[in-house]
Amino acid sequence: MLALDFSWFDAILRRVNAEGEIRVALSNLNQLLTARHSCRAFLSDPVPKDQIKQILTCAARVPSWCNAQPWHVVITSGAETDRFRAALQEEAQTGTPAPDLPFPTSYSGPYQDRRRACGWALYEAVGVERGDRAASARQMMENFTLFGAPHCAILTSPAELGAYGALDCGGFITAFSLAAQALGIATIPQAALAAYSPFIHRYFDIPDDRKFLCAISFGYADNEHPANSFRTDRADLNEIAQWLG
Ligand SMILES: Cc1cc2nc3c(=O)[nH]c(=O)nc-3n(C[C@H](O)[C@H](O)[C@H](O)COP(=O)(O)O)c2cc1C
Repeated sequence: MLALDFSWFDAILRRVNAEGEIRVALSNLNQLLTARHSCRAFLSDPVPKDQIKQILTCAARVPSWCNAQPWHVVITSGAETDRFRAALQEEAQTGTPAPDLPFPTSYSGPYQDRRRACGWALYEAVGVERGDRAASARQMMENFTLFGAPHCAILTSPAELGAYGALDCGGFITAFSLAAQALGIATIPQAALAAYSPFIHRYFDIPDDRKFLCAISFGYADNEHPANSFRTDRADLNEIAQWLG
């Protein structure tokens, strides 16, 4: 009896399936990337601890130079978040800004334009008139209420790894926010808190050989709040990529 060899067909099927899976994976990733936005008003409901652990496990899968995994987070929940929020607000009223890593010295050209566009979008959403400095300052101070979030992650990197440790931590922030988004949990990275780095060191007992980069406040979004009603856009590919060859 003639044995028919269908292995070529299996190979085609495997390839078609693999391509299909890749398309689904990319579409899922795109969905997460598009749905995620910085949340500036949270509900008080806590996130279950096992979900926070899942988010951290995903975030820690990002690459880092030499696989050093420089990130470390202190996570606050419940009364600890409220205690921190109160102390932070007091510090922001009285403290002198002193970030561990120097803040940008200026934003010019397209960076200035994009910065203004996202600032105006926020102010418009919450009803702050252009030029109303007192109202925009009040909105800025919302950073120090953690926008009402029930949790805050305090992200640090070893001082000795310098800018490259911070670079690796940027990937950690992105993966953290995407994993959270996949679980329906909203996030906002907050470099605003880095202005009060000495206070953060004291409050969380963070040694000087680590740099405080930013906080990530997280929880469930208050979707009725105007601060969550706008979305930012992104530059065209031709503005961010140069093609050679
Ligand atoms: C490292 C980092 C720090 C940020 N710090 C702040 C902050 O202190 N306060 C704030 O309101 N938004 C902060 N953001 C959010 C950005 O403003 C926001 O990502 C940007 O406008 C794009 O909007 P989207 O996140 O909604 O897509 C920060 C984002 C990143 C990545």
